[in-house]
Amino acid sequence: MLAPGDLRPLVEVCDLVVSYGAVRAVDGVTISVAPGEVLGIVGPNGAGKSSLLAAVGGQLRPTSGQIRLDGVDVTKLPPHRRARRGVVRTFQDTSEFGRLTVFENLLVAGLGMHGASLYAATVGARAQARRTATAAERAAELLARFELEPMRDTYAMELSGGQRRLVEVMRGLMREPKLMLLDEPTVGVAPHLSEQLRREYRRIAASGVAVLMIEHVLEVVEEVSDRVVVMDNGSVIAEGTYDQVMQSQAVREAYLG
Ligand SMILES: Nc1ncnc2c1ncn2[C@@H]1O[C@H](COP(=O)(O)OP(=O)(O)O)[C@@H](O)[C@H]1O
Ligand SMILES: [Mg+2]
Repeated sequence: MLAPGDLRPLVEVCDLVVSYGAVRAVDGVTISVAPGEVLGIVGPNGAGKSSLLAAVGGQLRPTSGQIRLDGVDVTKLPPHRRARRGVVRTFQDTSEFGRLTVFENLLVAGLGMHGASLYAATVGARAQARRTATAAERAAELLARFELEPMRDTYAMELSGGQRRLVEVMRGLMREPKLMLLDEPTVGVAPHLSEQLRREYRRIAASGVAVLMIEHVLEVVEEVSDRVVVMDNGSVIAEGTYDQVMQSQAVREAYLG
């Protein structure tokens, strides 16, 4: 049987360096993620995980190295142009959308716009109305799948931390991603919602999306990841299955100091 890792990678990061002045936060990292695969990134605080993710998302410009998406060099593309190529990054702070309802949040994400332009864009052109109808249909499907139908018209700022996380993931799915970037996707989430989120991450990957996930909670890493990369001090110090990397001497030293 073909394992996800056997497919051609969706994203390839080659010898990436990200510097803040004299600090090399990412110091020559090479990784790849295939469609349908969850790659978990772990490592101690300050290892460079968030910087790596931001470089892949386009929020940070790397000092050197290359990022390829579907074989295309996107290293110099700004975030919105990567987004158009299917890169979706979820953020922990989604307060920008607190004043929209859950449904409006999904619609806005599906139409690829900012909250302020929602009403301006939904009145008028017929093509726009069709796009809106398609997005509304997809939003309804996601509300059912995530069991959030009762919250459809609730303002996002009234949701619990975990529910907001779910909505953030749904917003990502509205954009029909090829690559999902998740930074600590279960932090601050109540246990039952965390369980639901983990199932969804597996399901998202099973639908063919490549998932790059930073996660501190090793239990989550073990459960969700197909493959794990361990970073320390800006470098990859181990790579393999969860069990393989946890047996590595370098990893034990990095974690135990
Ligand atoms: N904006 C920044 N300015 C300067 N140094 C930073 C900045 N962001 C992160 N760093 C430094 O880069 C290194 C890696 O940080 P980060 O990517 O956040 O690691 P992690 O996510 O693994 O905790 C750390 O030494 C951190 O102090
Ligand atoms: Mg971080």
